Amino acid sequence: MATGSRKIAVIGAGNVGATCAFVLAERKIGEIVLLDIFEGFAKGKALDMSQGGRVLNYDGLVSGTKNYEDISGSDVVVVTSGFPRQPGMTREDLIGKNAEIISEVGNGIKEHAPDCVIVMVTNPLDLMTYHMQKITGFPHNRVVGQAGILDSARMTHFISEAVGCSNEDVQAMVLGGHGDTMVPLPNYTTVNGIPVNQLLSDDEIREICERTASGGGEIVKLLEKGSAFYAPGSAAAIMAESVINDRKRVLPCSAYLSGQYGMEDIYIGVPVVLGRGGVDRILELDLEDHELESLQGSGAFYKDQLSEILGY
Ligand code: NAI
Ligand code: 2OP
Repeated sequence: MATGSRKIAVIGAGNVGATCAFVLAERKIGEIVLLDIFEGFAKGKALDMSQGGRVLNYDGLVSGTKNYEDISGSDVVVVTSGFPRQPGMTREDLIGKNAEIISEVGNGIKEHAPDCVIVMVTNPLDLMTYHMQKITGFPHNRVVGQAGILDSARMTHFISEAVGCSNEDVQAMVLGGHGDTMVPLPNYTTVNGIPVNQLLSDDEIREICERTASGGGEIVKLLEKGSAFYAPGSAAAIMAESVINDRKRVLPCSAYLSGQYGMEDIYIGVPVVLGRGGVDRILELDLEDHELESLQGSGAFYKDQLSEILGY
């Protein structure tokens, strides 16, 4: 097969991790290692996916493990280990428990895959991405978080429904933190190049922005157990693919800011160019004052949480 020696580890074989691994396998990106503290869970899902390769015509390069030695040589490590939200919980309610898990996972990655790019998924996303960088000590560009692809996909979906068109033709942009403070940007949203405000009314656009910002909660409420995973797992796979194939895709991701958008020492959602080394560069949009204020407000919220709850 044409994957060379490329290797991706997915930590956490739960809903998001398994979906991510399956999307990667189906796209024939490379060898995939699924790691979970519950070894049988990782091994069972890996075996199931390998057998699925016969059906969907990808080779069975998926293995399961609980040992970090098995992730050595990984080019990308996607981290999904941690507790998901339950109804009534915010993503921030997960901080304490998930920070401990990320410390353990970060030490395993640092020891066994010291040259990889880490794609974070565990919530609260922007805080756990910051925490992972601190634990590993990796350069900031090699630790990046998934949120904006998912949030933009949700906005895209709602717009395509409202316009009555294919979502393939909608390009939406959502920046900021992955939580209630996220910043949908209708001014940067188009339908095959047509500004969305020429197709939908202000009220319709406002409703879509609000539904996007609470899009994760809407699914948590419907599921009654756990949170979304098809779109999140796929989004993380797209980031891993952009890194491993050095595609340099322009994607909204949680990236480390050192002055961009007037913020520093924080991970928050901004457009980046994502390639083999991770974040190749951050793109600075010419935002209107109210958009920049919202983005900075989102950053300030997470900055407070970093110091008040995680002690940074
Ligand atoms: P899940 O409960 O289905 O899977 C989590 C997995 O992590 C479990 O299999 C568990 O055994 C494993 N795990 C726990 N501690 C571990 C450790 N120390 N080492 C290795 N594995 C460990 O949860 P799900 O739905 O897959 O969500 C995972 C995380 O992703 C949650 O924190 C959730 O909030 C977050 N998430 C983030 C999104 C984003 O856009 N950034 C979107 C959706 C979910
Ligand atoms: C989501 O947005 C809960 O972060 C997860 O679906």
